[in-house]
Formats: sequence, C-alpha cells, structure tokens
Amino acid sequence: MQAQDSPDKLAPYYPTPMKVVDKMLELGGLKAGETMFDLGSGDGRIVIRAAEKFKAKSIGVEFDSSLAKQSEERIKSLGLDKLAHIIEGDLLKQNYESADLITVYLLPVGNGLVTPILEKQLKKGARIVAHDFQFTAWKTTRIIDIDDDGEGRSHRLYLYTR
Ligand SMILES: C[S@@+](CC[C@H](N)C(=O)[O-])C[C@H]1O[C@@H](n2cnc3c(N)ncnc32)[C@H](O)[C@@H]1O
Repeated sequence: MQAQDSPDKLAPYYPTPMKVVDKMLELGGLKAGETMFDLGSGDGRIVIRAAEKFKAKSIGVEFDSSLAKQSEERIKSLGLDKLAHIIEGDLLKQNYESADLITVYLLPVGNGLVTPILEKQLKKGARIVAHDFQFTAWKTTRIIDIDDDGEGRSHRLYLYTR
C-alpha cells in the first residue's frame, strides 16, 4: 500500500493583527468584485475582512481542519458565505488562476515552495502581499513598515505585481 503524502507545514499558526490585515488588503489594492486567496488562512481573519470590508470574493486555504471549520462557522455566522469560503487542504495543491490578490504569512521556506506555483498560475497584473517574509526571487513593487501593531510589535509588508 502506498503511504499518503501529508502536506508540508509551511508555517505555524500565528495570526496577523487586525491592523496589519487592513494594511495588507489596502497595499494589495483589493477592489469590490475581485478574487483574493489567503494561503494558510488560519482563523480566516484576512478572508473575512476581505469579504466584509472590501466586498471581494475571498478564499482561504488551510490544512488544519479545526481552524478551517472555525473559519467557516464564523463566515456563516456573519452572513458572508456568498463571498467567502475556506478550502480545507494543502495550499501547494490548489489552483490560483482566478486570483487578483494573494496574501501570505508563511515562513521563507513556504514562500520558496509557493513561488513556482504562483509564477505558473497567476494572471498578468495579479498582486501578492507577503507579511514579514519576502519572496526572494521577485522584485518588490513596494514595501511598507508598520511600527506598532497596537501591541508594540513592528511588521513589514511586501507587495509584488506579476
Ligand atoms: C502564520 S499563520 C497565518 C494565518 C493567517 N494567514 C493570518 O495571517 O492570520 C500560517 C497558517 O498556514 C497554515 N499552513 C501551513 N502549511 C500549510 C499547508 N501546506 N497548507 C495549508 N495551510 C498551511 C497553518 O496551519 C497556519 O494556520
């Protein structure tokens, strides 16, 4: 019998503070009606914000079933299920061809593994916003620093345009 591949853990669960979530979506220029994916969506906060505030079609990919379930429940309780959705699965195995914006908060090794997938799949003009860890293969379009997230921590965001 063949062993089933378990997904690579590309980052531990560590949620982005809400102030930084808003900055990521603003930096990514997200507009109503656009499609965004959060790769490794944790508790779904970026996906939920993108649907609630920016009226975007928002998809999270999360392999931790309890986080995926918690996110879906919150999406439903907020009445956002026409706009927002969570795929429970490996973010390295999905199709991102429809994306206008990708958000990521993964470790450098995760960004490295995602790079060829996004290079192959993303349409021209799609944007990627990375939190704290950059994509070393790509030229940055813009960098912004957030000196204090409200809890005394600083953050750096990187914008890339395909
Ligand atoms: C640093 S957290 C970021 C959560 C959320 N994006 C945020 O910014 O609040 C990274 C998330 O990626 C998920 N993750 C790690 N490897 C994954 C994989 N191969 N497929 C899907 N999710 C993964 C983890 O379970 C975790 O929830």
